Amino acid sequence: MKASDLLKAADRPLDREEARLLDELDPRRLPQHIAIIMDGNGRWAQRRHLPRVAGHRAGVDTAREVIETCARLKISALTLYAFSLENWRRPKAEIDFLMRLLREYLRKELPVIHENNIRLLVIGRPDQLPVEVRSDIKRAMRQTEANTGMRLAVALNYGARAELVDAFNAILDHARHNGGSFRVDEQTIADHLYTAGLPDPDLLIRTSGEMRVSNFLLWQIAYAEIYVTETLWPDYSRARLFEALLDFQKRDRRYGGLSGVAACSAGTGTRG
Ligand code: FPP
Repeated sequence: MKASDLLKAADRPLDREEARLLDELDPRRLPQHIAIIMDGNGRWAQRRHLPRVAGHRAGVDTAREVIETCARLKISALTLYAFSLENWRRPKAEIDFLMRLLREYLRKELPVIHENNIRLLVIGRPDQLPVEVRSDIKRAMRQTEANTGMRLAVALNYGARAELVDAFNAILDHARHNGGSFRVDEQTIADHLYTAGLPDPDLLIRTSGEMRVSNFLLWQIAYAEIYVTETLWPDYSRARLFEALLDFQKRDRRYGGLSGVAACSAGTGTRG
C-alpha cells in the first residue's frame, strides 16, 4: 500500500506537490507519535496587519487539516501544544479568545473527529481552566473514548515540569497507601504522566523557527527526532508535514547505540 492510498478520501484532494511528496514516503516507517509545538500565530497575523487572534483562528484551520491527515496516515498518536501554563501571562482578551476558539473547535469538529475514529484526550491541569471549557472537554473525551484510531492529545494548561511534579506526587500518594518497600523506576514515572499509555513521541515538530522545547513533554521526548521549520503555524500545510515525515525517514535513530554500518566496524558508542 502506498501512503497516497491512505489519503484518497481526505477532506481536500491532494495537490501535485502533496502527491509527489507523499509518493516518496514509506508508509511502514512513519512515526508512531508526532508531537507539535504550534508556534507563530501572532507573527502570522502581525505580518498581515491583523490582530493576533486572527492568527489563532487561522491556526485552527491548520490544526484541523494536520489532525485529519495524521489520522488517515494511521499515526497512533498526535499531541498538539495548544495552551501552556505560561500562556496565562498573555492579555486576558487573548486568553478568553483562545478558550472560546477551543470550545468552538470542539463543538464543530467533534463529528469529524468521530468520523476519523479519533480518540480525544486532554493533557495538562484542567482544574485551572474555565468551567465551561472543562465540561466541553469532558463531554468530547467521553464521546470519543470508544474510538480505536489515532489518539489526539491536546496539551491545555500544560507544562512538562508541572506534569513531573504531578507524577511524583501521585507516586508518593501511591507509596503512602501501599506502605512496605517501594521503588520507582522509569516505567513507574511514565505510568504516572498525563501521557500514560501513549508511546513516546518519535518526532517533535516546532513551527516558526524557534529552537526551543518550551517546557513540552520533557520526559517523553528523550529520544524524539526534532524537526524545526521556519513556516509559521497558520501557513503550515500537508506538504510541510510530509516534508517533516520524509526528513524523519532519513534520520538514523540510534538510541545511544550504533547505526548498522558503524556497528560493524567501530568499538565505542556515542550518545544520541
Ligand atoms: C502560538 O502562537 C500558538 C498558540 C498559543 C496556541 C494556539 C493554537 C491554536 C489556536 C491552534 C488550534 C489548536 C487546536 C487544538 C484547536 P503565538 O501566539 O505564540 O505566536 P507568536 O510566537 O508568533 O506570537
